[in-house]
Amino acid sequence: MVGFFREGNTLVCDGVALESVAREHGTPLYVYSAESVRRAYRALDEAFAAHPHRIHYAMKANSSMAIVRLLREAGSAADANSIGEIELALRAGFEPADIVFTGVGKTPDELDRAVALGLKTINAESAGELERIDRAAQARGVRARVALRVNPDINSGTHPHISTGLHVNKFGVPLEQARAIYRKMVSQPGLQPVGIHVHLGSQIVTLDPLQKATSMVVKLAHELRDVGLQIEHVDLGGGLGISYDGSPVPDASLYAAAVLPILRDSGLSVVLEPGRLLVGSSCALVSRIVDIKDGPSGRHFAVVDASMTELIRPALYGAFHRIEAVTPGEGRHLSYDVVGPVCESSDAFGEERRFPALDVGDLLAILDAGAYGSAMGSTYNRRPLAAEVLIDAGKATVIRRRQTLEEMLMLEL
Ligand code: LLP
Repeated sequence: MVGFFREGNTLVCDGVALESVAREHGTPLYVYSAESVRRAYRALDEAFAAHPHRIHYAMKANSSMAIVRLLREAGSAADANSIGEIELALRAGFEPADIVFTGVGKTPDELDRAVALGLKTINAESAGELERIDRAAQARGVRARVALRVNPDINSGTHPHISTGLHVNKFGVPLEQARAIYRKMVSQPGLQPVGIHVHLGSQIVTLDPLQKATSMVVKLAHELRDVGLQIEHVDLGGGLGISYDGSPVPDASLYAAAVLPILRDSGLSVVLEPGRLLVGSSCALVSRIVDIKDGPSGRHFAVVDASMTELIRPALYGAFHRIEAVTPGEGRHLSYDVVGPVCESSDAFGEERRFPALDVGDLLAILDAGAYGSAMGSTYNRRPLAAEVLIDAGKATVIRRRQTLEEMLMLEL
């Protein structure tokens, strides 16, 4: 078995007991299963095997160096959202030709570096950005490989904070404008338009919007080829969700079955930018209970040593994460609000969750914390960044050690 499961009464990761990992490395602690990441990558890669494709892992989901390296070794390419992520990808061993660069508001320095490196594609967000790329490329005497991000005005049905494909969102350009912008590229000598980019949002659990967006960009690619542009690929972005509560969601093979018929005879290769799908389920945030409080309203609070600084998703999006007692006791089941120590009422991981009576010192595992957990970590309330441990072949390795107080203050001394 791979990932998080029980051996006897206690929760393990790839067979290694979370109790012992937490004892050795302290809490709060992110514990990852390397094999879960590899399997998720393989499942997607195999699902798209029938069509020329390249998976560019969206590093924003989790850019811890060891996780990025693990995905490179599994065969992945990379999707970067900032110069920081580009530099990290290079250090993790990716070639510039393995990297696509996405994101709103790229700065002149970022664009110049991207052009100088000769990335696989810069996914541009606007006509103005393309002009800036054109200038940077001409100044260097090169042609930058670019795609334009189309905003298809398709509702992906996800949380408004992580929906990106509607005209009210800041991302991309509407289809009608995209046609004209692509045509103009013919007269921009610094630009080599090679792709069309679209990304509808994140944690999408219905395939219909993804299918519609695919049809739209494939149709646009044909139109552009008819006017002489050599479009090589469509980049469908990321966004396929995972099941946080155990209810069924479409998996990689259903996704492939939905979009591959549209791509089949298109002569276009496909780029995918999954983040969450590859790493989301691979990690548990392990935390220790530091206090139990019985509120006057009859609520029980289990106060843990993890907080919104390690996993902000519940606070920010009202996201649900399963929480399990690592080694449940034998007492009768009670209902608890699992909360963190940060001074905000939104610093909570779950309301009215049922566990056998909990005690101070017990461990709780907050599941599916691999995507947008440590990557969105902060030192709010002066909490040092938590440590991360990777379990691989039965061995636990620290991939990021816990930040010390000195390190947290270092920039100010
Ligand atoms: N490509 C682009 C252009 C993106 O903006 C994103 C995510 C991805 C790919 C990867 O999406 P994924 O496959 O992971 O859904 N913090 C939020 C999610 C923010 C997503 C941002 N963009 C959360 O915790 O749910």
